[in-house]
Amino acid sequence: MRHLKLVIHAAMVGKNFKKLNVVIFAPNKMVCIGNLKLDDFPLLLAPMEDVSDPPFRAVCKEGGADLMYTEFISSEGLIRQAVKSRQKLDIFEYERPIGIQLFGSNIEHMRQSAEIATAVHPDLIDINYGCPVKNVACRGAGAALLQDIPKMVRMTEVVVKATHLPVTVKTRLGWDEHTKNIVEVAERLQDVGIQALTIHGRTRVQMYKGVADWTLIARVKENPRMRIPIFGNGDIDSPEKALEYKNRYGVDGIMIGRAAIGYPWIFNEIKTYLRTGCKPAPPDLAERMRVIRKHLEFSVRWKGERTGIFEMRRHYTSYLRGLPDVKSFRIRLVNAMSVNEIHQILQELENHVSETVI
Ligand SMILES: Cc1cc2nc3c(=O)[nH]c(=O)nc-3n(C[C@H](O)[C@H](O)[C@H](O)COP(=O)(O)O)c2cc1C
Repeated sequence: MRHLKLVIHAAMVGKNFKKLNVVIFAPNKMVCIGNLKLDDFPLLLAPMEDVSDPPFRAVCKEGGADLMYTEFISSEGLIRQAVKSRQKLDIFEYERPIGIQLFGSNIEHMRQSAEIATAVHPDLIDINYGCPVKNVACRGAGAALLQDIPKMVRMTEVVVKATHLPVTVKTRLGWDEHTKNIVEVAERLQDVGIQALTIHGRTRVQMYKGVADWTLIARVKENPRMRIPIFGNGDIDSPEKALEYKNRYGVDGIMIGRAAIGYPWIFNEIKTYLRTGCKPAPPDLAERMRVIRKHLEFSVRWKGERTGIFEMRRHYTSYLRGLPDVKSFRIRLVNAMSVNEIHQILQELENHVSETVI
């Protein structure tokens, strides 16, 4: 609880004014996404295909993420009952608050998939209008909607009406350098009922290249017509940058993607830095190993040993980044076929690194 100390000069005692020190306890400023209330300046875990699955989300939740999203889920896949899409709907109580992200090009299918997603009781539904990859954008979904704003607005309105949950949108600045229309798009999406907007500071054409430009995100936030929370996204990879961007661009919160891969501690590091101005020490070796093991355990529990081991492979490089002389261990980890073998390699790696560092 934050408190404000006010000095009030107005109390009359006899004929004299008396100075009173009054401490008023004021609740933290909340960020409201419809009826969902988040603490001041929430840190969001970005939806990331093949990354933001339940095992990864579990370690990010522990690492301090305030709001998380599933990776994007195809509306076509959901209504066809494709196993892969359905499995992406798996959400767990401890993950709350959590949003399910949908994408698609057909408005009626998006409506149906919003109903399907609502039935698994997430805290919100997010629509993806930002995915730049050919497979998605060239089929009229994701960032493709940035080329057809009237359709984007219609689709959003239909999804908002299809669910009682808050609907949010994640998108980019525009399609290309010449059509950075996010200020107008934000107003129109708010008008049809979205409850929060996350903006990745790049255009579709930029894909992930160059540096994210947050100046237009700030313009959306400064627009006096906007009343929903605006979350900034793109290139946040340190507590210092988070503080700098918070102050410079005035957003309501920050969404973090790539920097959390292999480093789920980033959320709490940022929170500590914002609160105290001090950067906590990075996780030591034992902590890193604990989180890798936990991630693996969740992965196997969720997907079974074979697939769980396979899906965990993409995370080792990021988890081990910066540790000395670990290449041979990494190669063994991505070739290991059983959980016992992986634990054995992790133990050897831990012994090796502690000996090297000492
Ligand atoms: C591997 C990967 C998968 C992604 N998948 C999605 C996705 O499913 N939905 C989405 O809205 N954005 C997706 N993105 C974009 C991220 O959510 C985020 O906008 C982008 O990475 C920029 O943020 P960052 O600089 O913090 O990583 C993906 C990004 C990456 C790197």
